[in-house]
Amino acid sequence: MSILLAIRIMLLVLLMSIIPPKSAGELEQWCIADEQTPDDELQAAMDWACGSGGADCSMIQANQGCYFPNTTRNHASYAFNDYFQKFKHKGGSCNFRGAAMITELDPSKHS
Ligand SMILES: *[C@@H]1O[C@H](CO)[C@@H](O)[C@H](O)[C@H]1NC(C)=O
Repeated sequence: MSILLAIRIMLLVLLMSIIPPKSAGELEQWCIADEQTPDDELQAAMDWACGSGGADCSMIQANQGCYFPNTTRNHASYAFNDYFQKFKHKGGSCNFRGAAMITELDPSKHS
């Protein structure tokens, strides 16, 4: 076996041991834009999330992976969820003045 291959396998094993297995019984939750929220409110909430909120919004910029569908709602959902996943264990909530809501359906599978 070549050394490179051995190193790759070691890295893979290491990676798998770092990632914790999903704990049974804990439902996964996503934070998405509420259907009732108008675009201008979504935009304002998203500006906050991507700014002082600390969400990583690089993927919803033009030419990036999550830019399409090119809608305020899609971009806001991405930003809300990124924020929520980052901060839910540190007191962050999925609210954004009512612009966002929790869902237990994976939005990437039910869009
Ligand atoms: C994205 O949407 C905005 C606003 O509707 C529009 O001005 C822009 O041209 C769109 N960009 C692309 C690449 O479709």
